[in-house]
Amino acid sequence: MTMQTRSLGTTGPRVSALGLGCMGMSALYGDADRAESIATVHAALEAGVTLLDTGDFYGMGHNELLIGEALRSAPAHRREQALISVKFGALRGPDGSWLGYDARPAAVKNFAAYTLQRLGVDHIDIYRPSRLDPDVPVEETIGAIQELVEQGHVRHIGLSEVGADTIRRAAATAPITDLQIEYGLITRGIEDRILPTARELGISVTAYGVLSRGLISGHFSRDRQLAANDFRAHSPRFQGENLQRNLDLVEALRKIAEQKGVTVAQIAIAWVLSRGEDIVPLVGARRRDRLAESLGALEVTLDAADLAAIEAAVPVDAVAGERYPAAQMAHLDSER
Ligand SMILES: NC(=O)c1ccc[n+]([C@@H]2O[C@H](COP(=O)([O-])OP(=O)(O)OC[C@H]3O[C@@H](n4cnc5c(N)ncnc54)[C@H](OP(=O)(O)O)[C@@H]3O)[C@@H](O)[C@H]2O)c1
Repeated sequence: MTMQTRSLGTTGPRVSALGLGCMGMSALYGDADRAESIATVHAALEAGVTLLDTGDFYGMGHNELLIGEALRSAPAHRREQALISVKFGALRGPDGSWLGYDARPAAVKNFAAYTLQRLGVDHIDIYRPSRLDPDVPVEETIGAIQELVEQGHVRHIGLSEVGADTIRRAAATAPITDLQIEYGLITRGIEDRILPTARELGISVTAYGVLSRGLISGHFSRDRQLAANDFRAHSPRFQGENLQRNLDLVEALRKIAEQKGVTVAQIAIAWVLSRGEDIVPLVGARRRDRLAESLGALEVTLDAADLAAIEAAVPVDAVAGERYPAAQMAHLDSER
């Protein structure tokens, strides 16, 4: 199978139509198996995936060290094709606590210097602030990344979880390739203003939470025990009555998937792929079997009847619960 590709904005590189999000290999979804994580990165590269997404705060450097190790032990021709997208700015304590954001120019350069060392590379392919720092004009943050571009340390600039006005200000400062933001069948908030703005400016979307963190993967069940350090143990969508209502949507989706002879996760990923050539889903697989399932979505074709059935099974506002706990919602410029 030849990997399908899509362009990241009008100024960015072509990347595989699915990217691999590596966060869950280090943090936020409970414990992960290191050897299986590295095997999953290798399997993704072997399948032609070229976009790997990480953040310097995923396991406080753990995720970048893991990707660096995976790249070094991959065949040279695969390593050379890999494009690494890195988020920075989130501040963490030794106990894993979240302490806020820092996107001042000096902080941007400091974060980048450490990331280059941890990844073991001489440039970062796409560099982006994970959230808008409310104390720093976005022009200053983007201007600092642009300096890193001019010095050869960074190739492209991205954004994450910002709203339409911030996208415009950032794009007026330097070329922006993509906006990373949550988008999926039960997370449609970007469709009103954010997606049209990105499209107007020639900026692609790298979509995360396409499976709503596993909730609409078809593999999540009510009796799944979540560790205290698992994001989902605190996410409103995974609690009590909300969880039940959301899992009911999954069962409606399962009927459509079964009729097509595919899995629920494949329907959910294929739906995001169908939303436009300028959208690249980042799948959060951390095991080879999950990765293989996700890649299978590239072979799923949804016709108009399928899309109508999916929209009827999961209406646009059907989800129960916000996508983050209240304290984290407050950091989302994209929700203002
Ligand atoms: N910019 C931002 O603010 C932001 C925020 C969050 C994430 N991200 C990025 O986006 C990436 C993807 O986000 P996400 O992990 O929340 O997305 P996701 O793909 O919605 O959820 C991934 C989780 O779904 C479960 N799953 C079940 N079947 C799967 C399958 N076939 N393929 C993949 N996963 C399956 C897995 O959980 P189990 O292994 O527990 O079953 C996996 O950890 C992250 O790795 C990160 O790089 C960015």
